[in-house]
Amino acid sequence: MTPQNPYLAIERGAPGHIGWRIHYFDEIDSTQEAARELAASGADQGTLVIAERQTAGRGRMGRTWHSPSGVNLYTTIILRPPIPLADVPRMSLVAGVAAAEALEREAPGIVALKWPNDVWLRGRKAGGIIAEAVTDARQNLDCVLLGIGININLAADDIPVELRDKATSMRIATGHACDRIAIADSLFNLLDSRYMETVTRGFDAVRPAWERFSALTGRRIAIVDGDRRQTGVVKGIDATGALLLDIGDRVERIVAGEVSVEGAYE
Ligand code: BTN
Repeated sequence: MTPQNPYLAIERGAPGHIGWRIHYFDEIDSTQEAARELAASGADQGTLVIAERQTAGRGRMGRTWHSPSGVNLYTTIILRPPIPLADVPRMSLVAGVAAAEALEREAPGIVALKWPNDVWLRGRKAGGIIAEAVTDARQNLDCVLLGIGININLAADDIPVELRDKATSMRIATGHACDRIAIADSLFNLLDSRYMETVTRGFDAVRPAWERFSALTGRRIAIVDGDRRQTGVVKGIDATGALLLDIGDRVERIVAGEVSVEGAYE
């Protein structure tokens, strides 16, 4: 039997707008794969997939995304932006802004973004974003599968032991349970606005909002990309979303890598 879709109530707008159509699954391997199939069969921009549980949730860099049932938000949004393939990573920064703005409504003052695409609450990771590009036969961008995972009502005991000092949820950080549907509703609305803003005016229009949440600006960090490791003080991000790192004698533009922060965040 197909489960009742509790997110039906927040479907809105015309095709093309984020959340105009919501496909809901009780259990799935990964919302990224369901969205990939929908996109291949011509689904309009703004179509999204939500699952209660993922059996093979994917994170960045080949990691798995812990996806227990009934407590969090796991969603993938199909976007068809008129941008070159190289600009796709910016979409995850735009989603980060919308996620931070949505969480801030429920948890003011404790939300931050860690470049490139982690959402933090009180200095621990509560959400992650992945932007996967789908290309056509000529290697042009066909669509972006924008995956967002947010720990909402995950209890501390349900965090895998190896992540306990790094991960959190809205419930843990605020001390109370939160309404997943209301958070999803805010997220999709805010993302629709921020995405349209980016498509019409460019990423630079959204950059100040990203900077407002930046957890790293002014902090000394280390960044590792393959076998290259650099340390420096973060100056912010540029108009393309690259991290600006002051390494002493100059400012480097960093486009990829895994960041670790020196010293405690709080
Ligand atoms: C990260 O590593 O921080 C990115 C995590 C992205 C997780 C989300 S959950 C919904 C969507 N489906 C997946 O399999 N992954 C993304």
